[in-house]
Amino acid sequence: MNALEFNAATGEPFLRLPAPFTNIIITPPPMSDVEPSIAILNNPAVGIWMGPMGAGPAYTASKAEQWLTKVKAETDIVMQEVRSATSGPFSGCPVRHIREVREDGTDVFIGDLGFARSSWTEVLDADEKARLAAENNARAVGDPDIVWHVGYYLAPSHQGRGVMTAAVKTIITQWGIPYMGAKCIRSSAFEGNPGSIKVLEKNGFVITDTLVEHVDMGKAKKWTLCLLERV
Ligand SMILES: CC(C)(COP(=O)(O)OP(=O)(O)OC[C@H]1O[C@@H](n2cnc3c(N)ncnc32)[C@H](O)[C@@H]1OP(=O)(O)O)[C@@H](O)C(=O)NCCC(=O)NCCS
Repeated sequence: MNALEFNAATGEPFLRLPAPFTNIIITPPPMSDVEPSIAILNNPAVGIWMGPMGAGPAYTASKAEQWLTKVKAETDIVMQEVRSATSGPFSGCPVRHIREVREDGTDVFIGDLGFARSSWTEVLDADEKARLAAENNARAVGDPDIVWHVGYYLAPSHQGRGVMTAAVKTIITQWGIPYMGAKCIRSSAFEGNPGSIKVLEKNGFVITDTLVEHVDMGKAKKWTLCLLERV
C-alpha cells in the first residue's frame, strides 16, 4: 500500500532505511523507550544540542514519560488513520523512534526523529508563537501550506555512519511528501553543531536565517540558532 511495513507480531507499522542500513527501522514510540531515551539524552554530547530542555543536568524519568506520552498519542492517531485508509493524506507521521534490529531479531532504541507541525519554538514572543502555532494547526490535513518541523537525536554509539542522513531522507521522501503532502519542511540547529546542519544540507535544506545569541541556555552568552528550510 505504501512505504510502511508492518511488524508480524504486533501489527505496528515501521519504515525501513535503505541499504546499507536495512537493519535500521523507524517505529512508533513505545513507553518502554523511557529508560533508553534517558540514557541517550543524559549523555552531554547529545543533550547539549537539544535546546533548553536537553541542556539541564538531568533528563529525568518524569520528563521522558511526559514526552513519550505526548508523542505516542500523536503517532497513535496517525496509526488509526493508516489502519482505516490506504492512500492519505494523513495528519502526520506514525513512526519516529529509530531502532537497530539485531541478528537475533531483537531491536534496540538508538534515536528519535520527529516530523510534526511546527510550533515555532524559535519565536520568543509568547503571543506571536501561539498565534503562528494556532494558524498552522488550523490548516486542514494535506494543506500544502502546513509548516512542518523535523528534529532528531542519535545515540553516540551510532553517530558518524550516515544513519541520520538516511533516516531524514527516508521519513521525508517515503512518508512526509507522498502521504502527508508536506511541502514546507523546516528545522533548526545551533551554530557549532556541524553534524546536524550537514544532515539537513545533505537532505536539501538551506540556512534561511541565523538568529544571533538567541537561545538562553542558562550560560553567560545566549546561543546562536540557524533556521533551515528544505528547498
Ligand atoms: C546530529 C546527529 C543527529 C547527526 O547524526 P549522524 O548519523 O551522526 O550524522 P551522519 O553520520 O548522517 O553525518 C552527516 C554528515 O555530517 C558530518 N558530521 C557528523 N557529525 C559531525 C561532527 N560532529 N562534526 C562535523 N561533521 C559531522 C558527517 O561527516 C556527514 O558528512 P559527510 O557525509 O560529508 O561525511 C548526531 O550527531 C546527534 O544526535 N548529535 C547530538 C544531538 C543533536 O545534535 N541533535 C540535533 C539537534 S538540532
